[in-house]
Amino acid sequence: MKSVDDYLAAERDSFEADLCELLRIPSVSADSHHRPDMQQAAEWVANQFRGLNLATEVISTSGHPIVYAESPPVPGQPTVLVYGHYDVQPPDPLDQWISPPFEPTVRDGNVYARGATDDKGQMLTHVKSAEAWLKTVGKLPIQLKFLIEGEEEVSSQSLNAWLPKNAEKLACDVVVISDTSQFAPGQPAITYGLRGIAYYELRLTGPKQDLHSGTFGGSVMNPAIALARLLSALIDDEGRILIPGFYDDVVPLTQEEREQFAQLNFDEARFMRQLGVSDLHGEAGYTTLERRWARPTFDVNGLTSGYQGEGAKTVLPAKASAKFSFRLVPKQQPEKITAALEAYLKQRCPPGIELELIDMHGAPGVVVPLDSPYVAAARSAIEHGFGIAPVMIREGGSIPIVNMFREVLGVDTLLLGWGLDDDNTHSPNEKFCLADFHRGIKSSAKLWETLAVK
Ligand code: BES
Ligand code: ZN
Repeated sequence: MKSVDDYLAAERDSFEADLCELLRIPSVSADSHHRPDMQQAAEWVANQFRGLNLATEVISTSGHPIVYAESPPVPGQPTVLVYGHYDVQPPDPLDQWISPPFEPTVRDGNVYARGATDDKGQMLTHVKSAEAWLKTVGKLPIQLKFLIEGEEEVSSQSLNAWLPKNAEKLACDVVVISDTSQFAPGQPAITYGLRGIAYYELRLTGPKQDLHSGTFGGSVMNPAIALARLLSALIDDEGRILIPGFYDDVVPLTQEEREQFAQLNFDEARFMRQLGVSDLHGEAGYTTLERRWARPTFDVNGLTSGYQGEGAKTVLPAKASAKFSFRLVPKQQPEKITAALEAYLKQRCPPGIELELIDMHGAPGVVVPLDSPYVAAARSAIEHGFGIAPVMIREGGSIPIVNMFREVLGVDTLLLGWGLDDDNTHSPNEKFCLADFHRGIKSSAKLWETLAVK
């Protein structure tokens, strides 16, 4: 009988071909034009599980389908819930892609496509590791339950509603997610903290229609100016958010954790080169890793008002709007932030401007304990796959459902990321290193063994 690792070595090409097939499906959850593609991607994932003879379901929701599959229980052994997502972020701006976002292309050992690392490639590592066990040993050493959803990139609303009603079905000992990053190329990591998020759209309306800025300018409030003022009132020059009470529930960094971050030897010069910036900016008194991983932040995600076409147009726009978000840290509650934000904006909104604040989505941040046997099992599995022990890190992104796993299922999550910070997630030219894809599969295959009780 072939060993699991031999199977992985023999199937590298077929794994890559399957990944490319999935990457060709433009499953953009935010854009309703892609509804049929969402269904197709869900079916594609389900067919992978059906091909492994796992009990598989494609669950319809009012949003995008949830794919669920499970292998048989293994008496005396733990059950692991693998979570991932088949949806991707919009590929815009399209003209900045070297190869089209849904035509996966391999260059320099990386596969380029929207969703390559976030999360199709990473999610597939666990499907392929299960395949390796089932096609060699014929069974898995532990029970696996797979929960692969299509709304992670838009805050997991359908799953949020479905999960509590299906807690028994999802009963498990620990959750495994690969939708995060290594600390640096060749330095894998276990992520023990993620930030939360609170996302809004602010719409300001002034006059009933666009006006001549010469005839009317200076006599009525310009909504674009009002918007600029309101947004700039949210944060000061030192990077502190100015909404009263915003920091009330923030868990401060401990001295010990600050020292641990500092020991990671983060290369700021390389980071600046990677981003193409001449300087770094953030909350005063904190290092770059602290700012990114463990401090709340404010970002404008989109701004719209007035004339955007070619040439100059002297117009006083009737409307102005912005999409913006806060990244939150553990204990900050999105609902509380929304209430404080709304009061703050309304109080500052100038007369003559109508304000509408739309709460688009929110999720709290998480930290997971590092002193569990599951973390120890993950550490040795990653060492097997990558040839080097992982470091423990926090990260700045959000995976909204992780809180539910703790609150509803009562279990912790292992965040085992195979991506890299320069994978261009949510940006043009997203990529995934194929060597990391295979190292991820190898780590995952080992994990099912190391999680098993001897
Ligand atoms: N894979 C990311 C989460 C992530 C990003 C973890 C960076 C660690 C580092 C995930 O797919 C994602 O992008 N989530 C969204 C969630 C949001 C839309 C609610 C995010 O963080 O913006
Ligand atoms: Zn993402």
